[in-house]
This record gives sequence, structure tokens and C-alpha cells, in this order.
Amino acid sequence: MADVTLQRPQGSAEDWTIAQDWDRYTPAEHAMWDHLFERQAGMLPERVVPEFMDGLKVLRMTRPGIPHFDELSERLMKATGWQVVAVPGLVPEAVFFDHLANRRFVAGRFIRSAEQRDYLQEPDIFHDVFGHVPLLANPVFADYMQAYGKGGLRAHGFGSLTALARLYWYTVEFGLIRHGGGLRLYGAGIVSSYGESMFALDDPSPHRLGFDLERLMRTQYRIDDYQQTYFVIDSFEDLLRRTLDTDFEPLYARLRNEPELPTDTILPGDRVYTRGTQAYARGKQNV
Ligand code: PHE
Ligand code: FE
Repeated sequence: MADVTLQRPQGSAEDWTIAQDWDRYTPAEHAMWDHLFERQAGMLPERVVPEFMDGLKVLRMTRPGIPHFDELSERLMKATGWQVVAVPGLVPEAVFFDHLANRRFVAGRFIRSAEQRDYLQEPDIFHDVFGHVPLLANPVFADYMQAYGKGGLRAHGFGSLTALARLYWYTVEFGLIRHGGGLRLYGAGIVSSYGESMFALDDPSPHRLGFDLERLMRTQYRIDDYQQTYFVIDSFEDLLRRTLDTDFEPLYARLRNEPELPTDTILPGDRVYTRGTQAYARGKQNV
């Protein structure tokens, strides 16, 4: 997502899509995918929601090499009616929402370089495809993503994208979910990151709080480092029901009069899974 001043690059279609040009990936690029894949697939089974591992299998993403978008789309189409399409980079918000509302997931086609192995600013194909695509094979999550796209087009009209973007951030990108008496990962920003896959679940630093729509939409987030707060959903069904059954218009109106919450806040009404020490974030402030 990005602001509307972006220029559509030459060679992209009206909807900003481009060909993946799979044949142009070099052996080194495929090797980078394999390296990142091995590293995550090795540690995730006990940490990620089982539906994510199911998705990797259904979509045959466990084979080596950068996936072919056409093949992913074919398998996704059978599972949930979704497709994966390539875009050159950031796209305007309305374009992004329109794709989601039509069950198309937009993905970058470039892969990070060796220097960017553990940190990169712009999402690459590993984040977009490994992180986001497996859960699109889950019918409930697939419906949530489409509903989000439709909600985005509405929020755009109300001028309330900041609030809605926080919902994406704290669910689709950095969400945690209850599972078998503990917590598991499901957010794409976490599962595509080696460091945050451990930090989000095990580190004593961040807060882990129960999902509450209005509270979450008031909460700022970090784009430069690990999150200081994660929100925990009960299940994908619960997330879908809570968001789909709520008319966001009155919510947006209320939010305009409520102060924003810094990333390390705990409110009296919060359902606290973990009260974090915030030691990680504070340690960084002093450098
Ligand atoms: N119910 C939301 C609205 O009224 C739309 C939405 C659904 C947004 C699901 C996100 C997720 O705008
Ligand atoms: Fe993402």
C-alpha cells in the first residue's frame, strides 16, 4: 500500500500488474529463495498456525526454487478462488484494495540480495509469497482478505485509511493466534522473518494483548523494527466475524475523537496475555 502520488511504471497494465518473467530468475536468486525457505520451514512447524503449513503443502510450495505465480494461482483457484499477480513495487491503495476485493493477491517479483538477507525495507517475493500466500489457501482467511479489500475501498471514501491500515498491520502482517493452550504465529511479516518468528512468540519484551477492533485501530505501529505489541485473535472465524459483522463507519467516526495510543500502551480493559518488559525497544533507544 502507498499513497496516490505513485506513477504507474511503463510496461505495467492498467491495474498495475506485470508479468512475473519467471525465466529471468538466476540460479543465485533461486538459491536465495531456497535458503530463506529452509530456514523458515525448519523452525515454523511448532510456531505457526497449522493452516499455514497446510497451505505450503496444498500449494506445493515445499519444492525448491522460486514459485511460479501461474501455478500458485491454479492451485489457489481450486482451493479458494484466489490468484497471485505480480506488480512492480508499491501500488496505490485503491489499486491494492481493488485486487483484494476481487481475490487477487499482488506480489513483488524481485528477491532480496545477500546483503538484505535479514532486513529489507520493501517487501520482496519471499515476504509476499512465502509470508502471505499459504493462508490464502484457507477458506476463512481467504474470505477475510477479500472482505478487507472491500472494506479498504469503503474506508478510502471515508478518509479513514490510517485506522484500517492498522487492522491489516496487526492481523495480516503481525498477528498472533491462540492455539492449543498457547500462542502461534500467523502474520506474514512475522513468518517471513527469522528473527521476529522467535521474538514475537518467545521474547519477554513485547506485550501480547487480546484482539479488540477499536483499541487496535487506535494503536500506532513500528515500521522500523520488531513490534512492541502483538494482538492475539481467538481463531480466523472469530476475526472474520468480528470484522465482517461490524459496520466500520460509526467506528471511524468515534476514532476521530479518540487519542492515538503509543505502541507500548496497556489499557485497564486490555486482555493481557503477556505484559512485556519492553526491554528490547528501550535498549535500542539508548544507542
Ligand atoms: N465491515 C467493514 C466495513 O464496514 C469491512 C471489513 C471487513 C474490513 C473485514 C476488514 C475486514 O467497512
Ligand atoms: Fe506484507
